[in-house]
Amino acid sequence: MVNVHTFAKRKQENRKISMVTCYDFWSAKIINESNLDCILVGDSLAVVMHGYDSTVHATLSMMEMHVAAVVRGAPDKFVIADLPFLSCSKGINRAIDAVQALIQAGASAVKIEGASHQIDVINRVVEAGVPVMGHIGLTPQSIHKIGGHLVQGKEASEAKKLIDDAILLERAGCFGVVLECIPSKLGECISQSVKVPTIGIGAGLHTDGQVLVLHDIIGVDPAFSPKFLRKYANTNELITHALDKFHDDVMSECFPAPMESYK
Ligand code: KIV
Repeated sequence: MVNVHTFAKRKQENRKISMVTCYDFWSAKIINESNLDCILVGDSLAVVMHGYDSTVHATLSMMEMHVAAVVRGAPDKFVIADLPFLSCSKGINRAIDAVQALIQAGASAVKIEGASHQIDVINRVVEAGVPVMGHIGLTPQSIHKIGGHLVQGKEASEAKKLIDDAILLERAGCFGVVLECIPSKLGECISQSVKVPTIGIGAGLHTDGQVLVLHDIIGVDPAFSPKFLRKYANTNELITHALDKFHDDVMSECFPAPMESYK
């Protein structure tokens, strides 16, 4: 099973890391049987599973419930859980309580968005023996400050700050750093500036691994097609077809057949 040491080793051996989001038991069961390296129970679940317009609506109790379901479905995978919105802003003890809840729900590591303003918390969590993954670039919990889903680090000063942030996170003990929505060249530059692996989403080919949202990979929402996304299946069409076929069979009394009925 993948663990924090695998992350370091993969980077040393120049081998990539694959990660997907997962929020529920049945998807976790499928992922458990796949070759994917690890699972992120991302706070994107607020959007994907609960229909909110941003990740700021993910609460700790939501995260705990989804983490527990995922871990039950994927006992063989390394599961990282997002620390939800403002968990680190109400004092270190509150942050540690949130980490405790996610780890006791079954996660093996936590992901924390941001860098300099989170360093004290990250230091304490790492000291407490919990692996921390950083997350810089587009940090969706700060969406109102950023002003939308915009590519980050396009200006030289911003790019330099993101490189410094990644180094800061590495020094604080993060075992990996997610890089979201930054120019490909910057993704490469950050990945070369730190020894811990970088996991990119919209950060180009040269990060040490890639993460995507499961529902995006399998094409659940035909309207969602950002530039960075590759859809590997059209599940929306498949499900719609199955549901319409069921409806038609009910209407035409083709379902259930004798063999689908009890004598
Ligand atoms: O919450 C999430 O799904 C994430 C990924 C996009 C990295 O943080």
